[in-house]
Amino acid sequence: MKYYIKTFGCQMNEHDSEIIAGILESAGYQPAADLAAADVVVVNTCCIRESAENKIRGYIGNLKACKYQKPGVILAAVGCMMQQKTIDGLLKRQGRHLDIVLGTYQQHRLPEYIARVLAGEGPIVDISEDNQDFPDELPSRLSSKYSAQVNIIYGCNNFCSYCIVPHVRGRERSRDFAAIMSELHSLAEVGVKEIMLLGQNVNSYGKDWRRQGQADAPDFAELLQAASQVEGIERIRYMSSHPRDFSPQLVDVISDLPKVRDYYHLPLQSGCDRILQAMNRGYSTADYQAILARIREKTPQAAVTTDLIVGFPGETEADFQQTLDFVAGCRFDAAYTFLYSPRSGTPAATMAEQVPLAVKKERLQRLVTLQNSLSLEHNQAYLGQKVQVLVEGLSKNNPDFYTGRTASNKIVIFEGRPEQIGQLVDLTITGAKTWHLEAF
Ligand code: 5AD
Ligand code: SF4
Repeated sequence: MKYYIKTFGCQMNEHDSEIIAGILESAGYQPAADLAAADVVVVNTCCIRESAENKIRGYIGNLKACKYQKPGVILAAVGCMMQQKTIDGLLKRQGRHLDIVLGTYQQHRLPEYIARVLAGEGPIVDISEDNQDFPDELPSRLSSKYSAQVNIIYGCNNFCSYCIVPHVRGRERSRDFAAIMSELHSLAEVGVKEIMLLGQNVNSYGKDWRRQGQADAPDFAELLQAASQVEGIERIRYMSSHPRDFSPQLVDVISDLPKVRDYYHLPLQSGCDRILQAMNRGYSTADYQAILARIREKTPQAAVTTDLIVGFPGETEADFQQTLDFVAGCRFDAAYTFLYSPRSGTPAATMAEQVPLAVKKERLQRLVTLQNSLSLEHNQAYLGQKVQVLVEGLSKNNPDFYTGRTASNKIVIFEGRPEQIGQLVDLTITGAKTWHLEAF
């Protein structure tokens, strides 16, 4: 039996798909070269914004053709979008041909459910939130030999007023420290050089245990320190952080960890205090500035990127202008910018004063123009500099060249050799564009 997985969404989802692949392979399945060759098709879904959902609805709708061509094929949809309270509509319309629908808590049961469908059971929907027996150690099929993702905490307690994640991924559950460390050691042993520690809010690591009275439970800083000791791992990244839980003291700890300190991703969301409050973010622009100032002081070479949402309900032109001014002052290396998308079940979706789409788009354009010029300036500062790049492979956009990343997470396009893939190489930067560097 062959499987094919189509993944939508964030890195958490990418990694969930690696785990689903690992589980299926442990159960004897093999990867299919493409959709047409698959006996089991798994769509791993995302619901963070409406645009993602629309794409997924279309993709699932099109899978009907697979059933016509190969009536025995098993079609499964899993993940965030399936965990939503509003999923009934999809199942009654675009998704009527799905055999298996699993939410975020039950996806490790996939082989069991496939077996039941093969045994003749009708469509199965399991979106229950019971995760008592959620296993801490699941096999994972690495999609890269030198870079790997490792879950450290599941779920989210923050309830930002725009965000669906806590509604579909549940409350924070830290993963066992020893299980994480043993995974890191095994990854290092097979040659992995870069790891990404994953969680909706990695800075909360261990807080659930401390709330339950385990005063000496490890925290995120201790986890980073321990991960840094793992020989063979050269780079450690983490995603996502929350400024509310990111103290200037954590910056001090990170500054002493060469494998970690050159890159920060710290989602700001808005540069206007009134909007930050309405978003329930739990920090002010001044708090954010204090963290950023400490980063710049301790590690001026570090790159800092952020996430920004434009057009949150009630955002006025003056509020947006504050965001523009604040972003200009922060001088981010890059920003991931999003149009606010109302998500059913979140408080912001029913707030008065929703911003018209045309206004949101116009604001996004101005923000992107500003950020692009800042990104280019940052990249130009690399011209003539020597950097160490972890080589990822051939460049997708330009297969005559190779692509890799600096410690500060900048993409570098260069003339490489196949044997350099997965290695750290020293390059001198000769070109700077908005989104990448060149070393020819
Ligand atoms: N609308 C737009 N962007 C959103 N994000 C999260 N929820 C929404 C939403 N409803 C963005 C945030 C977050 C990133 C992963 O996605 O900026 O940091
Ligand atoms: Fe990732 Fe959130 Fe999308 Fe789920 S809803 S895939 S956690 S971005």
